Amino acid sequence: MDNKKIVLSGIRPTGQLHLGNYLGALSNFVKMQNEGLYDSYYFIADLHALTTNPDPKELHTNVRHILAEYLAAGLDPEKSTIFVQSDIPEVSEMYLLLNMHVGIGELMRTAAFKDKARKALGITAPNQGDDDEDVAKEIIGASTNKRVNAGLLTYPTLMAVDILIQRADFVPVGKDQEQHLELTRRFARRFNSFYKTEYFKEPQNFNFGSAPVKVPGLDGSGKMGKSEGNCIYLVDDEKTIRKKVMRAVTDGGPTEPNQPMAEPVQNLFTILKLVGTPDKVEFFTEAYNNCSIRYGDLKKEIAEDIVAMTTPIRERIIDIENDDAYLHRVLEMGAERARARAGKTLADVREIMGITKF
Ligand code: TRP
Repeated sequence: MDNKKIVLSGIRPTGQLHLGNYLGALSNFVKMQNEGLYDSYYFIADLHALTTNPDPKELHTNVRHILAEYLAAGLDPEKSTIFVQSDIPEVSEMYLLLNMHVGIGELMRTAAFKDKARKALGITAPNQGDDDEDVAKEIIGASTNKRVNAGLLTYPTLMAVDILIQRADFVPVGKDQEQHLELTRRFARRFNSFYKTEYFKEPQNFNFGSAPVKVPGLDGSGKMGKSEGNCIYLVDDEKTIRKKVMRAVTDGGPTEPNQPMAEPVQNLFTILKLVGTPDKVEFFTEAYNNCSIRYGDLKKEIAEDIVAMTTPIRERIIDIENDDAYLHRVLEMGAERARARAGKTLADVREIMGITKF
């Protein structure tokens, strides 16, 4: 086990997972786990969720829910280390230590921070480009009812600690998290060079041997996300799935043979390729190309294929979510393993920084 490379990823518990999360990330986690080439760590980043001050009950429910979804999708606590971030107190301590080597300026220039700060302050994004000072000025002058908390600013420190404390080699994350991963590497290099050590290695992004799967939304443009009418949740029942797919945006239909597809139609075909069989894809592509396609039939096919894919998962989610004893056991096991590794790193880091016992 010990010489396997470590793969680690976290997810913020902010709501239910949708088909995009499943096909784009979770199903790959499961595949990788079952191939057994890596030692995998998957966790729920509840401390990161606190940066947006969620309702306490809702936060707890969301953690339970994502955990049940991970397990229902096939993550196996015997094969992977599955844990909740806040169960690892070593993370919080190392977050304090690492912050001593992180610049306020570099944190303020992070794209995700600027976005969230603007939202918190109620300012709209200026033209792309050099807007750092605007955000900075607004933050310093913010009144008490509009503020950007320090946790939001130091979000990348906490994420770097999640990764570095487990000494992860690979971190599968989407495009929106690449900058945070880049910062993680920078912090690791800075720590090494300041303390003249080679203690931390630089974690790399990881895509599963092929181009990342991007699942388009049902509303005609862009990728599947949580906005209204755009996504299918893993917990959606059959009726809901059919209703959502039948309402997906299309166009008036092809009027000439081999006409290029408009984006909404292309999106439906992309979804069909992900959930359906190659012969169905071929059948509907041909129907499109000879103008005989009926979008209603295409949608029915997609809906049934999604139902077939998600129904077993949904049923397991519901079972697992209500099984407190099982959830407790899973997290106890995960925390024990994650803490063992984290504790070793933290002890080393304290020593490297000069915090040693008399
Ligand atoms: N910031 C990540 C997100 O919002 C979640 C996350 C927290 C994470 N810590 C991590 C992802 C460590 C990978 C590794 O998606």
